[in-house]
Amino acid sequence: MRVRKAVLPVAGFGTRVLPATKAIPKEMLPVVDRPAIQYVVDEALEAGIEHIVFVTGRNKGAIEDYFDHSYELETSLKAKGKDKILEQVEATRLPAGTASFVRQQEPLGLGHAIWCARDIIGNEPFAILLPDVIVKGQPSCLAQMTEAYDKVGGNIIAVDPVPQERVSSYGVIAPVERDGRLIRMSGMVEKPPVESAPSNLAITGRYILQPEIFGLLADQGKGAGGEIQLTDSMARLMETQDFYAYEFEGAPYDCGSKVGYFEAVLAHAVDNAETAEGARALVKKFAASL
Ligand code: G1P
Repeated sequence: MRVRKAVLPVAGFGTRVLPATKAIPKEMLPVVDRPAIQYVVDEALEAGIEHIVFVTGRNKGAIEDYFDHSYELETSLKAKGKDKILEQVEATRLPAGTASFVRQQEPLGLGHAIWCARDIIGNEPFAILLPDVIVKGQPSCLAQMTEAYDKVGGNIIAVDPVPQERVSSYGVIAPVERDGRLIRMSGMVEKPPVESAPSNLAITGRYILQPEIFGLLADQGKGAGGEIQLTDSMARLMETQDFYAYEFEGAPYDCGSKVGYFEAVLAHAVDNAETAEGARALVKKFAASL
């Protein structure tokens, strides 16, 4: 069965970028001219996703509003004849019935957040996109994965090599054998100590999983950081189902950290038709002054 639905966990507090995220969701921080989450939703839509499940929490109402009508704004833009901006604003609205919002009431971990979407996903394969990570790629990272999934099925998670000293910030896989970009694994571990990490291939935050993951998440004990970890349930699912890692083509930016967020802004600014020229000139100017 085709991958039609995607889960975007957006309940986190954004503690790594406080105080910027004290009063607005971290997913709404702008990357050039749109909130970070817009890039992730666009990636999902490009991959053919038809329904997005946002796992939200308290104080995340701005995300729901962003993907909805904004009547006052649209009426005012129309009255002023600002058609181009109006078109851009209208394009952010998700079609009626294609988005669901469910709350994770307690911050118990990524695994628990995904489990909160179980009823809306039902009994079909689904994607997960962690909105902290923006991936620049053509085709998009998830589109590359769904293409691979249509050939091999099973479960697929995106990975990318990170510097060895950074492995303990991620889920890390133990690779066994490669076939092009697909990698067979013998295991995976969440946030391993640098000295015992099985590789430097980090789980990037894009997943295609079978619905059996929900049964495993339901009784998943606490793991790294005292949280219910998705990686721990995936490691168990691997015992009974086909599981692949996929080394995608593209550049991931971790907007959950200050420098990662800055890099995302920079990478998109030098690549955006409206800002490219000015941004490139600025980068050169700053580089020369360092
Ligand atoms: C989560 C996942 C981890 C993955 C990472 C990617 O961790 O648990 O496996 O490598 O996202 O950004 P978090 O960054 O939420 O601690």
